[in-house]
Parts: sequence; structure tokens; C-alpha cells
Amino acid sequence: MKRNIALLPGDGVGPEVTAEAVKVLKKIAENYNHEFNFTEGLIGGVAIDKFGNPFPKETEELCLKSDAILFGAIGDPKYDNDPKAKIRPEQGLLAMRKALGLYANVRPIFTYDSIIDKSPLKREIIQGVDFVVIRELIGGIYFGKRGRGEDGNSAYDTCSYTKEEIRRVAKFAFELSMRRRKLLTLVDKANVLETSRLWRETVQEMSKDYLQVTVSYMFVDNASMQIIKRPSEFDVILTENMFGDILTDEASVITGSIGMLPSASIGEKTSLYEPIHGSYPKAAGKNTANPIGTILSAAMMLEYSFGMKEEAQAVRSAVKKTLEQGYGTKDITKTHVLSTSDLGDQISKMI
Ligand code: IPM
Ligand code: MG
Repeated sequence: MKRNIALLPGDGVGPEVTAEAVKVLKKIAENYNHEFNFTEGLIGGVAIDKFGNPFPKETEELCLKSDAILFGAIGDPKYDNDPKAKIRPEQGLLAMRKALGLYANVRPIFTYDSIIDKSPLKREIIQGVDFVVIRELIGGIYFGKRGRGEDGNSAYDTCSYTKEEIRRVAKFAFELSMRRRKLLTLVDKANVLETSRLWRETVQEMSKDYLQVTVSYMFVDNASMQIIKRPSEFDVILTENMFGDILTDEASVITGSIGMLPSASIGEKTSLYEPIHGSYPKAAGKNTANPIGTILSAAMMLEYSFGMKEEAQAVRSAVKKTLEQGYGTKDITKTHVLSTSDLGDQISKMI
């Protein structure tokens, strides 16, 4: 199969980790007789430096004409402590999600036995954890009306959702549940927020079309506790944009390193794959960042966008075997600590 992939390395460690995922994808292409073409685009801080825009039109066009997008990270500390900055790298990420209609963010949370001790949580709590958070990605408070009062001393952000937006992402979550253990948990704050009540109402209505799926409802404060106390009881968690942002960082602790976790952002026109970690500016250029989150994101691309299940499985088992042999970056191993690029080589060799 021939596929065109837009490659957006972005900021910080983004270029280093995406390079390793490209390495792995090239190995897959070679072994399974596919042709993957990569075209690079700019996004984030690097795009501001060159075009004054964190998501330039060129990049948008490249994304729209590609079969899938592989993305690294966004963010540059020079903007973080400057609340007055008019243009910020993160705006590029949000603009991209919106422009490409990436409504469902899929974040799987799992453990590997070989690195289970890397998690600060007890082994007996996290062994065998395997759940997926479906985070709505282009609505809610991230995209609501915001501003300052006239004197500048008050500010507001608004959260709004339409039934249509909820149905679109909930459908994705119900369908994913059907292919898994058929347990869906809607996380909301329906005891306080009107938008959450609309989520609950909508999901309740839709549950009639998915009678095999057991749906439960949980307030977000309680969910944040249950994810740490009894994570193996979750299968699919569905939630709105900001709750999903917060809960997935929390859930990443289960795996032991945020550097391990992949994600997919599914849209109607195209889909994007990225590690859930950020740009990790302190490590930029040092060849030490963990590339596994990005490599596993490439595996999700093979499966979700290209329908290449066997190839995706080959990537996942190469990662598993590499970890079992004690190889890793310094966040996950003490046995055979490798650089970013050497770990990428090791994983490609296993395919
Ligand atoms: C994420 C990130 C982004 C978000 C930031 C960088 C805007 O934290 O993808 O989870 O909040 O969505
Ligand atoms: Mg986040």
C-alpha cells in the first residue's frame, strides 16, 4: 500500500522522537512491502519563528492532503511565563485540532510487566491495567468564548457543548467499547455543570442503541481517585475536553513514564498521531527522550488510519520485546540505558 504521511516534528524533543517513529515505519514498509512517503511541515514555536503563525496555512494544506499525520510536540518555555504573549505555540495545536476536525482523542493506558516497578503505584493495583480514555477534543472550555472585563480585572472562559458534538464522540466511544470489554464510563460533573447534564442525557439516550455496553456515570473528582485506586476496573472512559486533559496526565502515572504513552486524534477528514508527553524542553537536542510514545502512536496510525493490524501488532511486540530485554531510555530502565536514537534502532531491529 502507498500512503502519504504528514510529518510535524514541532518543538523541543519532538524532532528526536518523531525521527524514531519514522525509522520504525520505514522498517514496516520494507518488511511488509508498503510505500510510506513523509512530507515535513512546521507547527508550534518553530512555525512562529519562521512565519509568525503557529499553524501556517501550508501546514494545514499538507495535513489535509495526507493520509495521516505524525506529530511530535508543541511548546517553548519562552512563552510559558509570559501571560501577555499574543501568539503562543499551543494556539497552533488547538487551531490544528479545530481546522482538521479532530474530535476524538484516544489515549490508551496500559502497563508492561517488565517496567511495572517504574510506576509509583503498587504492582498489585496496576498489573494488567488496560483502559482507553476518549477525550472530546474540539469543544468545551478550550474553545468557548473567553475574555477580560472592561477594566481588565476580571476574566472568563465559557464551556459549551451541543448534543451533536457529544453524540459524535460518544458514538466513537460506544463503538470502541463494543470491540473491547463493553464497559463505558462517562466522566462528568453533572452534579454542578449544565454541560455535564447534557452529556449525561445524551449518553443515556444513546445507550439504548448499545444494549450490550454497560454504561456507568462518574463524577470527575471521584474518577480522579478511582483511576489511582482501582484502575483495572476501567475499560473505556468517555469525557469532555478539559477533564480528559487532566485525567490522562494522571493516568499516565500508571504506566510509569509519560514517555511511553501514545495517542490518536480522530477526525472526519484525517487523523493525527502523537505521544501524549509535551515538548520536554530540558531534554531537547540531548538524544535522551523516550521515543516509545511516538513509536506506539505510529502503531496506532497503522491500525486506525491504514487498517494494517498485523503491522501495528509487529510494532507493539517489538516494543514489548525490547523492554523485556532491559533496553530503554533512562526514564524506564537501569539495565541497558540507550539514547533516543539507539532505542529506535533496537526496536526497528526487532521488527
Ligand atoms: C495535551 C496538552 C495540550 C492540551 C496543551 C499543550 C494545549 O496538554 O494534548 O494534553 O491541553 O490539550
Ligand atoms: Mg495535556
